[in-house]
Amino acid sequence: MRNSLFRNPKPWLMLFTGVLFAFFLVACGDETPAQYGPHTILNTAGPVAESERFLFYVILIIASIIFVLVEGVLIVSIVRFRSKPGTPNPYQNHGNLRVEVLWTVIPALILFIVLGVTINGLFQVSYPPKDQKSINVTAIGHQWWWEFYYPDYNITTADSLHAPVGTIVNVKLYSNNVIHSFWIPALTGKTDDIPGHNNTKWFKADRTGVFYGECAEFCGAQHAHMAFNAVIDNQDDFSTWVTTQQQASVVPAQDSLAAQGSKLFVGICATCHGIVGKGNGYMSGYQDPSVACADPNVACKVGPNLTHFANRNLIAGGVLTHDHSKCTDPNNLSQCNLAKWLANPQGIKPGNDMVLGADLKPDQIKELVAYLESLN
Ligand code: CUA
Repeated sequence: MRNSLFRNPKPWLMLFTGVLFAFFLVACGDETPAQYGPHTILNTAGPVAESERFLFYVILIIASIIFVLVEGVLIVSIVRFRSKPGTPNPYQNHGNLRVEVLWTVIPALILFIVLGVTINGLFQVSYPPKDQKSINVTAIGHQWWWEFYYPDYNITTADSLHAPVGTIVNVKLYSNNVIHSFWIPALTGKTDDIPGHNNTKWFKADRTGVFYGECAEFCGAQHAHMAFNAVIDNQDDFSTWVTTQQQASVVPAQDSLAAQGSKLFVGICATCHGIVGKGNGYMSGYQDPSVACADPNVACKVGPNLTHFANRNLIAGGVLTHDHSKCTDPNNLSQCNLAKWLANPQGIKPGNDMVLGADLKPDQIKELVAYLESLN
């Protein structure tokens, strides 16, 4: 009676197994909040991701055909040639030259096809096409958030990478801590930020929109909370964004709630986030983070530049979304994620660098929210 279940599979057991596997596929839905943009490699928005998707489909189709053929022959053999009592051993064809050559040459040919398509794809994604308009961005991996520095515009921001549509984005990847990996599924595959080895990559978006990005290399406790988004604007909107980012931060009206908040900010937050609005709107420690953070003699701030915080739609490496409209009424901040973050940064993202000497009081949170939300 040993193995009777496998010799005589019960219909209910096969049905149960089928339903169980169907549940695994349910996880394939896209539940990403709109602020992050779509989270898929199949709905591409640019040439680099398209070339990678093409390779994926080529391999998927070849592998599927092989799978169906091999499994089909296997199933037919199992069913038709089952051993019955008294059946002699089947014909043995060990050492048959023709068969040996066929099943060596055919897989080799298939692998050469895959190799050819792969090498072609590698060339396509390695170097951007020449003579096209481009911008430069340095993507800096921190534990655990992304900082974006635009050397040509002197802009430093966090959590949202802005770029114009139809423009090549040359990305320098930098880390001074552990290895991270830069990934925007709809726009470009993964490339590592390796300390001491500055990788580069490029991508281009063919349409405007917000596209989900994340760190794709395990980098510590909050690796899963190291998201960002790529905000692809039309050229005019991008130019406006650049001009806004280059300005000094708004100075709140005297005696306003925001003015109280700005005093608190200097006392509590400025050590890590710098003095917001200093100089031309970016902080002294940030002129070139890829240089500053590598030099032990230069102050490199622990936290992100908040000079134009109110424009962003993610907080703290994407652990929370930022909805400005829910943070405008100081007497009702129950839905304001920024207030939630300030009240309990270690509870929301355990182990992150935002460690407060003492919990902020509700009035302090109101003032800080008013100030940060004024930083357009
Ligand atoms: Cu950074 Cu994972």
